[in-house]
This record gives sequence, C-alpha cells and structure tokens, in this order.
Amino acid sequence: MQPSPVAAAVSTRRERGVLIVEMHNPPVNALSLAVREGLTAALVAGAQDAQIEALVVSGSGGTFCGGADINEIASGAALKSPMIAEVQAQIEASVKPIVAAIAGIALGGGFEIALTCHARTMAPSAKVGLPEVKLGLIPGAGGTVRFTRLAGPVAALEAITSGVQIPAARARELGLVDEVADDALTAAVGLAQRLAVGKQPLRIASELHERIREVNPAVFAEFRTKLETRARGQLAPFRIVDSIEAACVETKVAALRLERQYFMECRDSAQRKALVHVFFAEREARRIAGLPADVKPLPIRSAAVIGAGTMGGGIAMNFANAGIPVTLLELSGEALERGLALVRKNYATSVARGSFTQERADRALSLVRGVTSYDELQAADILIEAVFEDLKVKQEVFGRLDKVAAAHAILATNTSTLDIDAIAAATSRPQQVVGTHFFSPANVMKLLENVRGAKSSPQTLATVMGLAKTLGKVAVLAGNCDGFIGNRMLGFYGLEAEFLLEEGATPGQIDRVIEGFGFAMGPLAVRDLAGNDIGFMIRKSRKLPADERYSPILERLVAQGRLGQKTGKGFYRYEGRTRIPDPEVTTLIEGVARDLKIQRRQIADQEILDRLLHPLVNEGARIVEEGIAARAGDIDVVYVNGYGFPAWRGGPMYWAQHAGLTRVVETMRRLTLTHGARWAPAALLERLATSGQGWSA
Ligand code: NAI
Repeated sequence: MQPSPVAAAVSTRRERGVLIVEMHNPPVNALSLAVREGLTAALVAGAQDAQIEALVVSGSGGTFCGGADINEIASGAALKSPMIAEVQAQIEASVKPIVAAIAGIALGGGFEIALTCHARTMAPSAKVGLPEVKLGLIPGAGGTVRFTRLAGPVAALEAITSGVQIPAARARELGLVDEVADDALTAAVGLAQRLAVGKQPLRIASELHERIREVNPAVFAEFRTKLETRARGQLAPFRIVDSIEAACVETKVAALRLERQYFMECRDSAQRKALVHVFFAEREARRIAGLPADVKPLPIRSAAVIGAGTMGGGIAMNFANAGIPVTLLELSGEALERGLALVRKNYATSVARGSFTQERADRALSLVRGVTSYDELQAADILIEAVFEDLKVKQEVFGRLDKVAAAHAILATNTSTLDIDAIAAATSRPQQVVGTHFFSPANVMKLLENVRGAKSSPQTLATVMGLAKTLGKVAVLAGNCDGFIGNRMLGFYGLEAEFLLEEGATPGQIDRVIEGFGFAMGPLAVRDLAGNDIGFMIRKSRKLPADERYSPILERLVAQGRLGQKTGKGFYRYEGRTRIPDPEVTTLIEGVARDLKIQRRQIADQEILDRLLHPLVNEGARIVEEGIAARAGDIDVVYVNGYGFPAWRGGPMYWAQHAGLTRVVETMRRLTLTHGARWAPAALLERLATSGQGWSA
C-alpha cells in the first residue's frame, strides 16, 4: 500500500491491522516541530481508524531518532506545541498498543518517545541512550522517570549521568527493550499484533513499580559521593541523581514535574551554554576556510605508522579499530616485538574493562601488521611518522618514506613541536606532507591537531581533517609554529606553575586549585605523568630570550631522579598512582627560592587561578592574531579534547569571554606591574576589550 504523508516529516502505512508511523527528518530524524506535528497527526489517525488495532513508531533512513533538534535547544527559546510531552501523553492515553521499532539510534528525546511506547524492539546493532548530560542537560521528557522504572535506579544512575549509548543486548538485559531482532520493524509489527489480541493491560513505563519498590536510599548518597570525583562542579549530573531519586520515591506526576524543573534549571545554566558552545565549535573546527569546494579527500584504505613507541602503537590501534589495515614499522625485530606487545596489552585491558568484546579486539589486532623493512610500506595511503622527537631523525625517515611510499600517499608527522616545513623539505612531495598530532594515550584521547605546512595541498588537508572523523576523533587545523596551538599555550601555563612554587605555593595547592576549577589534572600531576625528563628536554630545546625568567625546579628534580610516576617520585611521592606530598620536594623548592633570592609567601587560590588561566588566554589570543588558529573556538576544542580543560566551562577562550575580556585585560595589566612584561596583554585581547566585542568579531 502507498505511504500516505500526514505531514512532510512523518508518513504512515498499514500492515495487517497495524499502522506503521515513520519519522523522516534526515540524517537522524531529529524531533523538529514538523516531526512532532506529524507524530501527533499520525497518532490521532491511528486512534480514530477502526481498522487499526495497534501502532508501530519507527524512523526512516535506518535509524529511529537522534533526539531533540539541537538548533531548537541552542536557541534557548521555548519549544512550540506540540511538545514532546504532548506526543507522549497521546501515546500513554492510547487504548491501542504502540510499539517502538528501534534501528540505528534512539537517543535523547528519541529514546524518551520510545520509552513511552508500550513495548520496544531493537536491532542487534542499534544503540539507545540519554546523552543529555553531555550538553549540560538532563532528559526533560520523562527519560529519567521511565528509564528508572523500567531498569531500576542503579542502571539509570550509571547510564544517564554518563550519557552512554547502550547496545541492544545490554538494553534487553536491563529491561529497556522487549525484543532484539534482526528486523526490528517486522518484530515490532508482530509484537504489536500480539499485544492487541492479548488480555494483558498495556505496560506504561512511568507507572511501573517493581524496580523502585525497595530501593535503599544509601544508593543515591553513595552515587553523589562518587560524582564528587567524576563530575566535580557540574550541575547536570547531580540533578540527574535528584531526578532519579524522585522517580523512586515520588508519584509519577510529582516525579515528572521535578524532572521538568531540573531540566529548566540546567537549560538556563551557564554550563549548558558552554557545552553547547563546545558542541558547535567542534563542528565548526572541521571547516577549513578557503578550501576549494570540489576538493575530495583521499580515500584511506590502508595506513602505515613508523615507530612503535608510546605514540606509534596507539596511533596504529586507531586505524585497526576503524577497520583499516595498518603496517607498523620499527628499527629492529626486538623493538617491534616490544611495540606489538604493548598494543596487545592495551586490547587485553579494553576487553577486561568491557569496552571491547574479545571478538572485536581480535578483529582489530588482526589488522595490525608489524614489519622492519621500509619496502613493506608501498600499499599505504597515509604514512604517519612517530619516531623520536629529533629533526634530523625525522628528516632521515621522511627521505626514506618519500622513496618507498606510493606516489599518491600522504606523509604525516606526529611531531609535537618541530617545524613541519623543515620535515617536508626532506621529501620531493611537500604538498603531501602534513602534521597529524595525536595525544597520549593515542587510542583514547579525542583530539587530532592537524598541522598545515606552507605547501600542504588542499587535498592533503581535507584528507587529514576527514581522517579524524574516520578514527572517531575531533579535528582542529593549526598553523605551523613552535608547539602549534596546544603545546605553545601550555608552555606558558607550565612555566607559571613553577614560578608559583618558587613564590610560595605547593604542588598540592596548585593542583587542587586547577582540579577544583574542573581540569582533569593539575599541571604538576600532569608533569609527573608525562615524565619530568621529557618536560626538561623540551624546555632545553626551546630558545628562551636571555632576560626571560627561568625556574630551575624541573632541572633539579630530574637531577635527583624524580622523573615522575615512572620512578615513583617527582613533584609528589607515589604509592601506586596515589600522589603523596613529599617534604623533600618542599625542601628542594625552598632551596631554589633561596638561591634566586625569592621571598616565599602565602599565595591565595585566586592568584593561582589568575596566573595559570590568563597566560593560556593571552597566548591563545596571539595564536588567533597570527592565524595559527582560524578561530578562538578552535582553541577551545583543542583544550577541551586534548588538555583536560572542563568542557562545561567552554574552553579557555570561551571562559575568558564569559568572565569578561575587559576584566581579563585588567587582571593582566595588574600582574604586569608585579611580574613583568611577559604579562602584557596581546594586542587582539586589548582591542576586543576596548571595543566590547567578543572573539567572533
Ligand atoms: P618513543 O620513544 O616511545 O617511540 C619512538 C619509537 O620510534 C621507538 O620505539 C623507536 O625505536 C622508534 N624509532 C626511532 N627511529 C626510528 C626509525 N628511523 N624508524 C623506525 N622507528 C624508529 O616516543 P613517543 O613518545 O612515542 O613519541 C614519538 C613522537 O610522537 C615524537 O615526535 C613525540 O614528540 C610525539 N608525541 C609524543 C607524545 C607523548 O605523549 N609521548 C604526544 C604527542 C606527540
């Protein structure tokens, strides 16, 4: 039978007494006003049609529904009727059974609609979830209430505060869906028919009580304590807990009302705005201004990674995880075996943690081929070098790669500081040379900071930007300069932390303040993790102006063998991974202060924040000014995805604008008085502060 369009965005068709209602709003059938209107009309039609016994809600294009329309949320304006809740009220009031057929994804508002239906079927590869927390929100259409009453509070707390996508088998286990079937739609039609003829009352998730009957209130207290470390400072995760608790102890009506109230509170919060900024900045960062519209990225069917050290192995895993065969080259069989063993160990850890099935890990591992001869690299479309951070070594490697790699192949370097053009000059194809800066651990960290050489061609750039998507990463394009975007900014932040130590702060105080702000890790804990020897080596390789302030703390730590976690002591002493303040470090720092004739004093937490965050912003402004970053938002994307800056504060540039650029400039001028010219605000910062404009100007 011909589908009849009830509205442009929803169509219906009949099958054996069942009305199949299908959402059409590519790419993910987001719940725009047109979709909501279409659903309402279709549900009314189904209710009124005497020949229809049951309904199935599904989505076109192989997917159910990705959720609310983000543009509608971002606008901050109230949604137009019918709201999702009105559609849900229609579903719950229906005397005919309504089944959701979930293929692809059912997320956010989409899943909330599915949860409202009387039953759900799901394709084995489909995913469901409530990811609102990632945008600083809580589910606002009964998601916390229905999820909790179907699957119980323990599962709800974990799933909704993390926003994870739940695979079909797990969703079935939790009781979120009723059937998993290859053809979810056919299964849904069958289930709808059975419900229509059955004598059982229809199951309404929001009215179920079995899973919430005897919940121990300690569950919520314990979970809140857990969140204190995992989501410190964030509003939405805590409101999710409040809402789930309400779902257990309040009536349906009261629980739904509270959820709505928390939703509005989150929606109006600064955190939600910051997270939405990051969301859009990540999308925007993919676009390279000035690239010809007809540039086609090179298809990457096969890759190679040179050097199987810390980074090389992780980079290779990215390709293998994406189903792309990858050849890993090392200098010797022994070094290769060490590198491959690390890759195997990482997969074993993923399996043990449950993030990979054994089968998926085996499949990925089978795509990694270790070699020791450059002649084996001919098949690769992209070759990524991750050998020692030494220009001569890299140039030598690129000279060899140029000779063996396929003519069309891109040669990329994972250097974190070196000059891309100097590396490209060692080849006969500088237009196909580019930086692809991964972050450690490369198989985990989301950021890919691509670096444009003077001669990198549009196709080369388009390819590495597209590669990020293939590998499930977030890409930013940086210009070629010492440290690119991320590490160039970090240099100043790291130095300032050491100056603060000399002047009277302790490592524990500095890290506490920065972690209190929301960073994943404070600067000194990060140094201990990365290795103080490495930090010192990078410091030495940089040519600082002669009159620049220099702190010998790092150097002295290294001289004492305090390399960080790997030697059990650095800025802290370690028991396992636990940092313990060490009086020996205090003595070392006091000695430095004495030698430099610095009078140590009490340093207020606010001063620590000011002196660590402002250099990030200031150097960021210079980076925008020089065109190293195309937009301030790109810098936010780098810091949130690569450096543990709290996403809910929007990144350093967004944070500065939110704090007020005028205030930022004033603080910097004040610091210039006591701490010298390195605090002089960047010209761009001054200009924007004076004109009252934001970064987008
Ligand atoms: P690593 O020392 O762990 O690994 C380097 C590997 O390259 C070693 O296994 C070595 O045997 C191999 N190698 C050296 N010369 C070679 C050659 N000619 N042919 C083949 N293999 C060769 O170093 P890591 O940490 O993996 O760093 C690699 C690159 O990644 C460096 O450029 C570094 O700056 C950059 N990077 C490192 C990050 C980190 O956190 N470790 C983060 C981002 C970039």
